[in-house]
Amino acid sequence: MSRLLLLVSLATACGGARSDGPPARRDAGARAAPTDAGDPRVVAGATLYGKYCALCHGPEAKGYAADNAPSLVSRTFLESSDDTFLARSVELGRPGTAMAPYGRDLGGPLGDGDITAVIAFLRDRGDVREPIAAPAPLPGDPTRGQALYAPLCQSCHGDATTRGTAVHLANPTFLALASDGFLRYAIVFGRPGTPMEAFADRIDGNQVADLVAYVRSWSAPAPVKPATPPTAPDGPVVLNPKGRSPSFTLRDGRFVPAAQVAQALAKKQRLVIIDARPPSDWLRERIVGAISVPHYDTTTLDRVPNDGTIVVAYCACPHHASGVVVDELLRRGYPKAYVLDEGVLFWKKQGYPVAGTGGAAPDPHAGHTH
Ligand code: HEC
Ligand code: HEC
Repeated sequence: MSRLLLLVSLATACGGARSDGPPARRDAGARAAPTDAGDPRVVAGATLYGKYCALCHGPEAKGYAADNAPSLVSRTFLESSDDTFLARSVELGRPGTAMAPYGRDLGGPLGDGDITAVIAFLRDRGDVREPIAAPAPLPGDPTRGQALYAPLCQSCHGDATTRGTAVHLANPTFLALASDGFLRYAIVFGRPGTPMEAFADRIDGNQVADLVAYVRSWSAPAPVKPATPPTAPDGPVVLNPKGRSPSFTLRDGRFVPAAQVAQALAKKQRLVIIDARPPSDWLRERIVGAISVPHYDTTTLDRVPNDGTIVVAYCACPHHASGVVVDELLRRGYPKAYVLDEGVLFWKKQGYPVAGTGGAAPDPHAGHTH
């Protein structure tokens, strides 16, 4: 349904005004300066972007500040992304990656107007005001596509279940939003200024179609938006208040391995665990007993006692957001604040205990999620 929406809005937004010839070769680097600094939406979007997004996508939105978050301003990306794709990508996030749902309906910090402002800022930064037509390829053959994907794409994009260093193409939310035309456009023209090269000169149109068919074969039902924003009761801040303090062996005096934290929990030792991601991620899936203190709003750290209790913060990216919270704790004089070394995605992979509504549609009537 979202794909249909996307195609419809692409068709109406562009009116077929521009053809799908190779984009003019312009220098991606020369396009950074904002030209619409007077537009109030762009100004508001810049502020929101700086607060919520720059940590990973970088101050210029060119990506790669943390966890290989992609560029949000490359020309081909903005040309083939309509505002529905952009808005839903921000609202719903990419479950299973460091990209959280930022929409308020999912427990994130951004309302629809905020997301519109961020998109206005990105379009201004990238200097692509409107998407252009990105026609779908002819039907391809997924088996032939698989044979091409393995040598040409897998080293960066991973496979159906594992993210590589680049955007995870098998992510169900991504595939629900991205049209075949979007996929084709990225493969043919690449993403100038990023490691994604243009394959136009290396493979022919049939091979591109086969690759698109193969990537499309990964489509799976995407998580659905809940009818009302999910909520969860706040549990106690200090876990096992009567337990002993764990003795962690730290890396670089700052990072504590996940295995040691899992063991401390199993032994009912005294500690505080902080989820530094947006609360939408915390609601969906968190380390058992973790409290939510998003990296962009650390005022709620006030409720963490400064009495020598060990505090461990984590995120998905896997150090950046947690590092911000730990630095704030250290600045406030907490003596023992550490970063969970491998991050929460690793924690989950190990089968260590998590709580939350899970990746599927959160049940708005579930109440307790602990
Ligand atoms: C903690 C790191 C992090 C933060 C903060 C973050 N993102 Fe992301 N974002 C990512 C990663 C990683 C991906 C790629 C996910 C994947 O592997 O598919 C991504 C993907 C995206 C995409 C899809 C891009 C594409 O090429 O498909 C959009 C759009 C996006 N982010 C926008 C935002 C906006 C806007 C914000 C702020 C409101 C934001 N992100 C905050 C890490 C982050
Ligand atoms: C050298 C690493 C590398 C290889 C090889 C590679 N890609 Fe990419 N690809 C990337 C990166 C990095 C991005 C994100 C670029 C950005 O916008 O920051 C990307 C982006 C994409 C996107 C757009 C995703 C989005 O949400 O914006 C698609 C589709 C894609 N690649 C498909 C492929 C296919 C199919 C192949 C094989 C023919 C391939 N790539 C080979 C690194 C690679």
